[in-house]
Amino acid sequence: MSHIEDSENQSVNPTSAEHFNQLVERVISRRGVMKSGLGLGAFAFLGGSLAGCNSSDPVPEAPIAPPTTPAAPLINFKAVAAGSGDTIVVPEGYQAEIMAPWGTPLVKGAPAWKPDGSNSGADQALQVGDNHDGMHFFPISANSSTEGLLVMNHEYINPEYFYAYEAGQTDVFGTWTLDKVRKAQHAHGVSVIHIKKDSAGKWQIVADSAYNRRIHGNTPMTITGPAAGHALMKTSADPFGSFVYGTLNNCGNGHTPWGTYLTCEENFNGYFGTTVAGATRTPLMNRYGLSSGLSGYRWEQFDTRFDWAKEPNESNRFGWMVEIDPFDPTSTPKKRTALGRIKHENSAYALANDNRVVVYMGDDQVNEFVYKFVSDGKYDAANPNANRNLLDSGKLYVAKFNDGATKGDSMGTGEWVLLDKVANAALAADANFPDQATVLINTRQAGTVVGATPMDRPEWVTVHPTTKEVYLTLTNNSGRSAANVNDANPRAANIYGQIIRWREAGGDAAALTFEWDHFVLAGNPKASPLVSNGSGNINADNTFNSPDGLAFDPEGRLWIQTDGSFANTGGYATQGNNQMLIGDPKTKEIRRFLVGPAGCEVTGITFAPDMKTVWVNIQHPGEYGSHPNRPTVPAGTSADVYALQNPLAFSKWPDAAGGRPRSATVVITKKDGGKIGS
Ligand code: FEO
Ligand code: CA
Ligand code: CA
Repeated sequence: MSHIEDSENQSVNPTSAEHFNQLVERVISRRGVMKSGLGLGAFAFLGGSLAGCNSSDPVPEAPIAPPTTPAAPLINFKAVAAGSGDTIVVPEGYQAEIMAPWGTPLVKGAPAWKPDGSNSGADQALQVGDNHDGMHFFPISANSSTEGLLVMNHEYINPEYFYAYEAGQTDVFGTWTLDKVRKAQHAHGVSVIHIKKDSAGKWQIVADSAYNRRIHGNTPMTITGPAAGHALMKTSADPFGSFVYGTLNNCGNGHTPWGTYLTCEENFNGYFGTTVAGATRTPLMNRYGLSSGLSGYRWEQFDTRFDWAKEPNESNRFGWMVEIDPFDPTSTPKKRTALGRIKHENSAYALANDNRVVVYMGDDQVNEFVYKFVSDGKYDAANPNANRNLLDSGKLYVAKFNDGATKGDSMGTGEWVLLDKVANAALAADANFPDQATVLINTRQAGTVVGATPMDRPEWVTVHPTTKEVYLTLTNNSGRSAANVNDANPRAANIYGQIIRWREAGGDAAALTFEWDHFVLAGNPKASPLVSNGSGNINADNTFNSPDGLAFDPEGRLWIQTDGSFANTGGYATQGNNQMLIGDPKTKEIRRFLVGPAGCEVTGITFAPDMKTVWVNIQHPGEYGSHPNRPTVPAGTSADVYALQNPLAFSKWPDAAGGRPRSATVVITKKDGGKIGS
């Protein structure tokens, strides 16, 4: 029985050519009515990479002849074993070096990072931020693989390591001051880091480069697009609703074909609380999860714009997609409201057949939705300035994932529902949405009104470089009940997660319908007790949980990063620390490429054009969480406070001695200087 027929609890080896051919035949027969060319259609649906064939090539009239010599396998390295150590593990023949850990002096005049945590707010504004996440390498010119701008997100802070320096401190926040609030705000956002290979071939930060820049929680930025100027966007500091200080909770990223960076504001709700007793949240605040009392970061105690009772619209100015021009250090970042307000995980673009720009996006929370934006204007490679504001005008859609003709077969159909106050009857009739700006500010509720499919926590999305097939991680959903499983989210109490992929009708990213299947259902054949084996491409050697970061490299390898349980027991037995794996979209084979240090999550990845360097971010090493080697936290003590008092008891990564665990970038190269993955 093939994986397609029963995707769970199967042991069919998906890597065999025979199995792949069976899949092609099955897909062809199921999609026999398709008009777009069977050969291309079937291969594209399976994520096949067609060498020398790009998305604008015409559909071939005849099947492509097999090559006379076998092509090199897409994945060709020795898989690494799972592990629970406090180090980075990469395959034989590879090396991983540390770059730009939290606190690295970046902007000219920046002071050194102090390992006792005593840097000030002003210091932090000039240093690399905390909790590295999504990133993108922009070649300095043409296709340079030796110099460029490494632009990366800083998602949040770990208070227990961030503030822990006062003798006898027993509260995570210690003596709480405005400067500590500023330090935390300045550790969020984005770093633009000019990097270059030195004469020995080693990547170095270009000290004092004019490109080096910190964008953080107090950087001035403009609000653009349909929601700019709306009443819900106005505050006492900004009566025009068009100007905001800062970007926060910068999770995954995207980029555009015109050379800008997109930083995605995710869990913005966590920064807003209130000091006002008895204050009541609005339905809009509830839909996005603002705290009823003090927030976890407690900024509202010194910076009243984060007190929702005192400044009720400030939170509406976060949760957006923010566009940054990394090549202009004086440019003002723009919050692009046409792309909706959700807990943005990351984004990935594709060009429609008519060159409109399509941006795919997930909203990371249990039972939230998947979106795409389609620009009104068309991308024009020959006229760069005409592209600069393409993200200000377009249509926003939310996805429905239907079961399709057959129930339980791990594939189905889908449709994109327009979120438009006039054109969508349900929204037109809903008094909660008086105008389109409200649809964009309260995007989640608009998705609910039109009947979008609640998913198992949408995380990263990525587009195959040649087929334009779209892949999305659904990280887990332990709260899904047996009563509301469906083909796209097929497991109740889903602790492992899955990767879903879809192919737009006619191969056009702007299409309104699609067909989907699962690339993998993660699982664990070594779990004790067994919870779910996962799909046929999961085995004892590649088992993992909670796929999160996801990216295709330029050659079509699917890089999968995890942010899940590292307990290494029970349902997670033998899975070890969070990790990174590579999948072959054609064969569905998955191999483990990297294991992260203790307590970390692996997130954020980008590639040099020549595929001889891959940058990966390691976030929050040393998180106590569920790690099997964590010290025993005494009864009556919170894990955070215990970590505060014993900051070096668990992880020291990446510093060999002293210091405290901190997020950092790792630069992965092959020892022989060759291309990575092959
Ligand atoms: Fe920022 Fe959903 O991870
Ligand atoms: Ca189905
Ligand atoms: Ca993530």
